[in-house]
Order: sequence, then structure tokens, then C-alpha cells
Amino acid sequence: MDHLRFDAPDASLILACAKGAPPSVIYWGAALPENVDAAQMEGLFFRQAMHGVADVALPLSFAMEPGLGHPMMQGFAAHRAGKDWCSLFDVGKVERRPHGAKIICRDERTRLGLEYDIDFDPATGVLRIRTDLTNYGATALDVTEVMTVCLPVPEHMTEIIGFTGRWTQEFTQDRVKRSAGTYLRENRSGRTSHFSYPAMLLATPGTNETAGEAYGFHLAWSGNHRLRVDTLTDGRVLTSLGALLLPGEVRLEPGETFASPEIVAAYSADGLSALSRKFHEHVRTKLLRPAMRFKPRPVHYNTWEAVYFDHDVAKLKELATRAADIGVERFVLDDGWFGGRRHDRAGLGDWTVSADVYPDGLKPLVDHVTSLGMEFGLWFEPEMVNPDSDLYRAHPDWVMGVEGVDQVPFRSQLALDMSRTEVADYIFHAIDAVLRDHDIRYIKWDMNRDLSHPGGASGTAKAFAQVTALYALLDRVRAAHPDVEIESCSSGGARADMGVLAHSDRVWTSDSNDALDRQYIQRGASFFLPPEVMGCHVGPARCHVSGRRLSMDMRAATALVGHMGLELNLLTERPSDLDTLKSAIALHKRHRALLHDGDLVRLDTAPQIMASGVIARDRSEALYSVAYVLSDPQVLPERVRFAGLDPDRNYQVKLIWPTIWQAIKGPSAIEKLGLNQDGATLSCAALMHGGLQLPHAHPETCLLFYVEAI
Ligand code: GLA
Repeated sequence: MDHLRFDAPDASLILACAKGAPPSVIYWGAALPENVDAAQMEGLFFRQAMHGVADVALPLSFAMEPGLGHPMMQGFAAHRAGKDWCSLFDVGKVERRPHGAKIICRDERTRLGLEYDIDFDPATGVLRIRTDLTNYGATALDVTEVMTVCLPVPEHMTEIIGFTGRWTQEFTQDRVKRSAGTYLRENRSGRTSHFSYPAMLLATPGTNETAGEAYGFHLAWSGNHRLRVDTLTDGRVLTSLGALLLPGEVRLEPGETFASPEIVAAYSADGLSALSRKFHEHVRTKLLRPAMRFKPRPVHYNTWEAVYFDHDVAKLKELATRAADIGVERFVLDDGWFGGRRHDRAGLGDWTVSADVYPDGLKPLVDHVTSLGMEFGLWFEPEMVNPDSDLYRAHPDWVMGVEGVDQVPFRSQLALDMSRTEVADYIFHAIDAVLRDHDIRYIKWDMNRDLSHPGGASGTAKAFAQVTALYALLDRVRAAHPDVEIESCSSGGARADMGVLAHSDRVWTSDSNDALDRQYIQRGASFFLPPEVMGCHVGPARCHVSGRRLSMDMRAATALVGHMGLELNLLTERPSDLDTLKSAIALHKRHRALLHDGDLVRLDTAPQIMASGVIARDRSEALYSVAYVLSDPQVLPERVRFAGLDPDRNYQVKLIWPTIWQAIKGPSAIEKLGLNQDGATLSCAALMHGGLQLPHAHPETCLLFYVEAI
């Protein structure tokens, strides 16, 4: 078998896998008819010899290993004490499956094996590749780089969209022009990071949300990573993603295997939203547990911004009662319930209920919460320890670090070396005991510092092993408590990738509950994550992070399109705002089946407006959100065109948020059409191609439209 071909309705992939040659991509892009074969493509793509470079066009390979002799780019580096560094992998065997294959490569000279496990989803065209490197030699192999795979994209993909940010500004889009040489993002923080989301898109300059070609890549890994786009001097364009390995951290003894994290990639001919929908489908069908996928996601109340470390049982009970009154279904007790954790400088690691603040234990609070019909959830930060803790006093040697190198101070805490069995066991038993003793259905699993010096007891780097140990620990907790859902949090959204989502149930998107910032953050996250896994909370009237005051209308509308929650002091909010909040929760519940299973489309608008919709799979209904994020330099904003509906149907369109709508100055299209009353029946074609003239509204207004086929 010289070639492998995989097809989905809107994408095709052809791989070269002839025995004795390196594996490579021949074609990946728009769906091809059956009569196009690999030989045609190879003929079309044939590259002649040129002056000033090698006398043959050097092949590209999955590994881009040194033995290919490429002058610019390599994706693989390993050696045995300086020898056997020049590996060159040939395909030895191909095991074909209906929608995937294993391509088994060997380098007999360096005695290494690389196995590529490939899946191509026949429905979405989502491509997944995992890579195993095995040392078949008689001596140890030091591995410094294994990009999971290097995948070429066509040269007209001249734009790169990366995702960067910081604490409270996660998922910031960064669109740049591809240029000669290397686009490189590296993350050495030991977690997914705020500043380098392990994903990127390549697109044409004209690609927008609903039209144009794009390729998307996501490295399903919650640790150090390297993402590259190389524009080779010969014009070809290569993307590569992989774990970033620290010196010495991967040494394979004879017979050992290194498993690289998985790449999830997709192609879209229909714009960026279609690409996102493929990733969403992947998360929904391949990563989320089926039982959780179809369970309505309970509306949260999280205590953090209401009480911080000031835990008082009577007040927490009061908050719980108030939360239940307005429709909350899960009460999550955040940081501060354990050990000496009265502030963020002590207590991490001591996972026993603090008798200082809970003299009768947690049970009275848990009972109160469950008696109100809510689930109880609890915060942990299992991977960390404060030096001021009983755990650290007993086991100061359990932390990561490098002898003779000062630890970087970071929220007064240190990371435990979880690759050590006794450490992982301690953490597991600590969590297990709390879960066994209480009716707890949810864990917020936090991680609040970079692994600045991730040295293990042996002196070698353990950043990679830490992530593997984290995944194993999450799985162990899940296996012991299958009914407990887990949220992945890391100082907000610093661990919100597809790697951790294979071991958890949702992510905390950001510590910013500023609804205006959240419009951008959630939009950025939506490139890869479906709404139901994104924790979206209604924060206090004056945002604790930005200091900005936002109306309850705006705060609630922004949170209700994701996995909705509240994170504010319900005892100090105005009664009218609580009423608004209650309506928003009811609205969320009414539409969450749609929001948490439908097809997302982000709309292309002027920067003053941020709009998106979620459309039912059968196009029978949709909910669109239109947020006014900036003051408009025009008299009136642009028309908004409702993408994603069925062009042959008529729809009833209704403005369902804010609850009280008042036109500024004269009547707008909203009143003319009665959208704020019973709604109007409109043709989809008119809505999609003509669009609705948006009314004038103040910035920081969010309109929600419910659209139903009739
Ligand atoms: C992190 C999380 C917050 C909160 C605090 C508690 O910053 O992102 O949501 O849980 O820790 O210390």
C-alpha cells in the first residue's frame, strides 16, 4: 500500500506511506471526487531540481527528522551520547482501519521506531494524530524534540491566527501575516498557560467566519509546548506542534516508548466558524463522557468573589438559600475551606476540613445545600503546597525544584512532584477521603502557579511527567467517583485545552467576570471549545478585576450563552438585579439544550458589535447574541445577518433579552417588526442575506434573539 486516502463530506486527506520511504502528506484540503488519485496529485505537485539547493527536491516527512537533510527546519531530535542523532525514518508497515491507520516507521541504523496513529473522522474530517517513539537500541536514548507531526498546508494560507493573553485576558486572538522563516510559540510554564494557547489557525486573507479556507490545529496537552509554522525557502509551508521537552527529561532506556500528545486538526472550506464546529463536535463526541454530555449542566453558584477566604457557615448557608431561590442548581465552595487556609499564603496541601471555620465539619453546609435541591461542589488545588502547611512541614522534599536554584516566588506556593508515587497517592487519598465523607458531585480542580523549576528528586526535569501524572490522577479520581464532575481551572483559563478535557468535564474560562472582557474571551475560546464546557459566571456589579460597572442585563446575557454560573454576593445585589438574574437563569434553562448541543456560528460584524448564534442541528431554532462592545462611530450600527439558518424556511424572530427593551429616540426595526412583542415571521433568506438593522443602543448592551422555524 503506497497511499492512504480518507474522505469526509467536505475534506479529503491523502498520505504517502510507501514502504522504505518517509511518510508524508500528499494532499489535505477540500473534498476530492473519487477519480482523483494520489498519482495525479503527485504528478501535479512534482517539484523540479533547482540551482543553489540540493539536486533533488527534499521530501517533507511527518517527523522532519535530521536524516532528511533539510537546511531550515527539523521536528525531531534524539541521540545516544551524541551518536545516532541523524535518524531517518522509513515506513515499515501500515495497518489500515476504516477511518484511520497506524503507520509504523523504523530507522534500522539508529534503532528507533516511530509509530503514527491516525484517525480521520468520516463525518467532520477531524484529523487526530498521536506519535510513539520507541528505543529499540541497546543503550539509552536522549530525546530533545518530537513534534507530534509536521503537516504541510497550502501556500495560499498566508495568515496565522494564534491565541495569546494573560491572566483575565485569555484567548486573545493574534492574527499575523505568515512570512519567510519561522512563526514560533513556546510555552515553558508547565501548564497550558495564559500566553500561548496550544492551538493555531491558518487561513487566507479573505477567510472570515462564514467563508473561505482555513486549517486549524490543536495540541491536546496541558504542559510545555512548541508550535511552529515554517515557511521554507523553497516555498512550502509546514505546521508542527508538539510537547516542548526540557533537557534530559525524556531519556528512553532500551525498549521504552515516549508517547507524544495528540494533535487534533481540521480543514474548512467554509470559514472559521465551520472549523470551530468541527472542533466542537470532536470535544462533544470524543472527549466528553457520554453520561455528562447529555446531562443538563446545572447552573452554578461559586463562592469565590462573594466571600474569598472569609468563610462563615451562616453566611454561606444564606448565600445558598438565596442562590436556590433564583434557580441555581449547584453550589461550589471555592478556596478557603481546609487546613490553615485563611489567606493564600498557607494551607495548600492540607485537604482536611478546617475546624476553625467549620467546627462541625462541612456536613451541615453540604446538607443545607442538598436539602435545597442543589448539588455541592468543592475547590481543590491538588498539585500544590504552601510552605506554611502541615504537608510541607512533613515532606519538604516532595516539591519540585532544583538544588541550589532559588524558587521563583509565585502565589506563595510550590508544586508537588506528582510523578512520585507516594505524592500522587497522598493527593488521591486526600481527595478521596473528602469525597467519601460528603455528598459532593463536583470538583473545581485548580492550579495556580507556573512550574518555573520543574526538577524532580533525581535532579532531572519533570515537567512532561507532571502532566502525565496529572492526567493519571484525574482518571483515578474519576474511576473512584464516576458521578463527580471535574472542572479544570488554572488561574482562570490557563488550563483549558483538549488534553485536560479528555480527563475532565468543563473548564474555567477566565478569572475575569467582566462581561465586556468576557465577550472577547469567550469568543476566543469558542474557536476550539463548545459553549457547554466554558464556565461563564455572572460577576458583581462592579467587576473585581477591571473595576468596571456593568448592568445585570449585560452580565447575565454574557454568561447565559455558555455553562452559566454566578459568582457574586447575592446578599448585596439589588432586588431588581436579583429578579433580572432569576429571569436570566430561567432563560438559560429554557434554552440550554440548544446552547449546549447546537452549531455555533460567530458572525462577521464591525468591531463595535460582537455577535454569534447557536443553531439547532435540525435548524429548527436558534439563539443569537448581539453585544454592543464599543461606542459606534456611525449614527446607527450595521445590519446583522443571521448566518447558519435553513434558507428555505421561515422563522419567527423574537427579542428575548433584555427583559425590558426601550428604544432610544424613535422606534427601531425592533418595534417596527414587533420583535420585542410577539415576534415577527421572517424568511430566512431575508434574515441571512438582508439582515436586521440593529437599533441604536448604549455600549455594554447585549441583545438576545430567539429564532424558531415555523
Ligand atoms: C484561582 C481561580 C479562581 C479561584 C482562586 C482561589 O485564581 O482561577 O477562580 O478559585 O484561584 O484561590
